[in-house]
Amino acid sequence: MIAVHDLHKHFGGFHAVDGASLEIAEGSITGLIGPNGAGKTTLFNVIAGVLEPTSGRVTMAGEDITGLPPHKLFHRGLLRTFQIAHEFSSMTVRENLMMVPAGQAGEGLLNAWFRRGQIAQEEATLLKKADEVLDFLTISHLKDEKAGNLSGGQKKLLELGRTMMVDARIVFLDEVGAGVNRTLLNTIGDAILRLNKERGYTFCMIEHDMDFIGRLCDPVIVMAEGHVLATGTIAEIKANEQVIEAYLGTGLKNKVTAAYG
Ligand SMILES: Nc1ncnc2c1ncn2[C@@H]1O[C@H](COP(=O)(O)OP(=O)(O)OP(=O)(O)O)[C@@H](O)[C@H]1O
Ligand SMILES: [Mg+2]
Repeated sequence: MIAVHDLHKHFGGFHAVDGASLEIAEGSITGLIGPNGAGKTTLFNVIAGVLEPTSGRVTMAGEDITGLPPHKLFHRGLLRTFQIAHEFSSMTVRENLMMVPAGQAGEGLLNAWFRRGQIAQEEATLLKKADEVLDFLTISHLKDEKAGNLSGGQKKLLELGRTMMVDARIVFLDEVGAGVNRTLLNTIGDAILRLNKERGYTFCMIEHDMDFIGRLCDPVIVMAEGHVLATGTIAEIKANEQVIEAYLGTGLKNKVTAAYG
């Protein structure tokens, strides 16, 4: 579904992504792991149109999507979860969900004014959809809570929920499990598995928790020093000596020397 060809992203003389090539198969839950500073988030940001690549190409179902802005990718069903912006924290959980399709359509206020009848209809549809999403995520009891009052894990569920308000095809998750307690982590994991199986979502997720990765992901891609070091099942990855070495940090030292002489 997604293919990344020899992607580079440089920040000055620093090669954060340094010739990364990988594929994300349709219907998979692909894990992306690697030591701190390996370039995982930067790679996500380039794929999701947040950062321009220095060079290289990204395709989706064979079509070139390199450098497309996030709203264009959104319309193709490529979504990246992002933290709830400060200005939305005083809105309720349900309102946050209802904002998603409207906020992305980029409709002008004037346009909205002239189409009030239609808007009311759309709002009723959105409300119903939001309630279905809350039910799916088992957080219906939080619908009238202000988003700012949610725990870290509940916020992650809401972020995942926002991808369900539109017809997502592939969702990129950056450390969705970070700082989340075990119970909520299981709920998040269940939601990801169900979205994958029941709704056909493809996922690519960056994660540091190996148990979480092992439970959800196949294949797992390991990045180190800006490129792909290995791809395989979690068992293959855990047994890979190059991967173990990369985690021990010997590679990182070489990279710093290369970048700064
Ligand atoms: N905007 C930027 N300007 C300069 N350097 C950057 C920028 N963004 C990232 N980097 C550097 O690029 C490298 C890769 O960062 P990135 O955030 O992609 O790593 P990561 O694999 O996501 O790490 P982590 O597991 O810690 O989240 C790091 O050394 C980081 O300091
Ligand atoms: Mg990161």
